[in-house]
This record gives sequence, structure tokens and C-alpha cells, in this order.
Amino acid sequence: MLVRVALAQNPYNVHVGAGILAQVGEITRRALRHQASKAFLATDSGVPAAAVETVAASLADCGLPVTRSAITPSEAVKTLETFHGLLQAMARSKHERCDPVVALGGGIVGDIAGFAAAAYQRGVPVVQCPTTLLAMVDASVGGKTAVNLDLGTDGLHKNMVGAFWQPAAVVADVQVLASLPPRHLRAGLAECLKHALICRDLEDPDLLEWIGAHIDQALALHGATLEELVARNVSAKARIVRGDERERAPEGGRSLLNLGHTFAHAIETLPGLFVGGTPGPLLHGEAVGLGLIAASTCSSAMGLAPPGFPGDVAALIRRVNLPATVQGLPPTPDVLARMAHDKKARAGALRLVLPTGDGKARIISNPPVEAITAGLDAIRA
Ligand code: GLY
Repeated sequence: MLVRVALAQNPYNVHVGAGILAQVGEITRRALRHQASKAFLATDSGVPAAAVETVAASLADCGLPVTRSAITPSEAVKTLETFHGLLQAMARSKHERCDPVVALGGGIVGDIAGFAAAAYQRGVPVVQCPTTLLAMVDASVGGKTAVNLDLGTDGLHKNMVGAFWQPAAVVADVQVLASLPPRHLRAGLAECLKHALICRDLEDPDLLEWIGAHIDQALALHGATLEELVARNVSAKARIVRGDERERAPEGGRSLLNLGHTFAHAIETLPGLFVGGTPGPLLHGEAVGLGLIAASTCSSAMGLAPPGFPGDVAALIRRVNLPATVQGLPPTPDVLARMAHDKKARAGALRLVLPTGDGKARIISNPPVEAITAGLDAIRA
């Protein structure tokens, strides 16, 4: 399946299929505007060795021999130091302006390698090859690249330094999802539910019902279901990005994709969290699932969504077997202080995306503390 991200400048294709990592070389060659002589393959240690070999061989067969570099995928590693290390490795490999970076792995390596591609010699092409569901349906599409910023005692601030840098192509091979821990598949479904909660105006109004009816098949790694899941979610995201590539729209637009994320970013890097007795850190998608429950509860507390809506969202999260509550959440004022640091804040005002329960969402500046507290209480174990 092919999904076109139809941007006015730099449009590209997202290739979705089973076994298509073997075509990365050919797809990369076709997507490049200029002749390249080699590629830089950035991977993470969670990617199966066979997948790395397949991609490296495919690139080499197409005249793009690779230099490889692997990182450990964790938020703590998503730093300026790792970014710097990647740039040094690219420079040592004599990477040139027309040579592509190929990012193979989850959202963390995609974000760091994408940012390195954006910065190196003021920009070289990047091909994103996401290997987690979350990266396939969200992180690899739309050109957001970034690293976290460590503010010492003030903690790690997610994605504070980065660039918009659209990929030349995206290759999402759903076959590789079978090799990952099931926890990662569940985490990716949280981002799919996020799209489905805001999809009413995205030419796919039935996405929520469809996902609800196909959760079991997706978790059972049914190939055709995974392809459709990825393609429909990428289409939904592509439509939003096309309308507001740089997230500048004052209302709606790309900001809607941040549904659940202000809560999620505030809690996912916190130490001392437990889900179902298992110590953190949470995966990003797990935190997004909690964020969706918190945001829908906040919305309902403000009268923006029906009273039964947060329960419906929590029920979907539970059906995916994602955590619906978390132990060890700090007191509300502490979480609020972290939410206030969110980079989506404008003129000091906290801006929350709140779902209205009808497939739409609204952006609310400075929602009442009581409503946010209700949201946080809903996910407190
Ligand atoms: N993940 C949110 C966005 O791409 O805008």
C-alpha cells in the first residue's frame, strides 16, 4: 500500500507492506533527487539483526554501501550528546550532502537520526524505516525530529531541541512487528486510538469503530489487519500534516495530534512510576494511553464531552491491555508544574487538546485546575 503525504514542498510516499525492508535500497534510490554514493544506517539495539542485514544489503545492492551506527533506544539516550556522536560518525564516514541517512528502528532513533540529517551540512536526505507500530503510525511521518533537553534538577524535557525535516520516503514493514515485544505493539495502538478520537473530519470517520473491532486481530499480528491499521492511521496523520505542516494554525491543525501528549510528556520521564506493580519507565505509547484517559476526563469535567466518554476511552485502553492507571504519580501541583513546561504552551498559557467525544477535539488555553486534577486523579492508581 502506498500513502502519499501530499505536502506542497517535499511530498513523499509512505510504503506499507509485509517484507518490504528488502526494497529499502530501491525505494531510497527512487526517492533521492540527486545521485548518492553511500548511505548512513542509524539503527537501535531493539531492531532484529536480520532486519538490519536486510536493509544494509538492499542499500548496498542499489549502489549505496552503508556505514552503520546503533543506539540504545531510551529517552535518557535521546540527548544532544547522542546527536553529536551521530554527527561525528557521519563526518568520519565522509557522508556527503546527497547521501541519505536511513533510520531503522523505533521513534527514538528516527527522531535523533532525522535531526542529525536535518543538521548535517544544513540538511541531507533521510529515509525513515520505522520498526515499531508507534513509529509507523506517528513518529516517522510528518517530519518532526528532536532530542530531549536535560535541565538537571528540573528534569528531562521531551523533544525540546529539533527541526522539521520531512523524510524523502518512509518504509513501514509490518512483518517486523512480529519480532518486537508485544508491549511495543500495544503502545503503538495508543497513538492509533488518538487518531481515531479526532478523525471525524479526516475522511475516515469510522476509524474508532474499525480499530475497536480489530484490536484482537492486530494484537495477534494478523498481517492484512496491521497493513490496514498502519495505512489508515498514516492517511489520517498525512491529512492533518498537509493542512498545517509546521503546527502554526491558531486552532486545530497539527496541534490536535498532541491529544493526550501534554499529560504524557509530563509523566513519562518521571522516576518512581509503577504500572501493575512493574517499575517504569513507561513507554511513550503507554503514557499516551494514560494521557488520553486524563484528557477525556478533563474534557468531561469541563462539560465539553459527555459524562460517559472517559469511561469509554478507558475501556478501549484496557481492551488493548495498556495501563489505565499508574502508581507513584506525584501530587497534582508537581505534575502541573511539569505540564506548564510543555513546548505547546503559548505566552505562558497551558494549552490542552481536549476530545469532545464526537470524533473531534478542541484546544483549550488554561483549563481550570479542578478539571486537570480530575484528569490526573482518573489515572492515579
Ligand atoms: N506526533 C505529533 C505530530 O507529529 O505532530
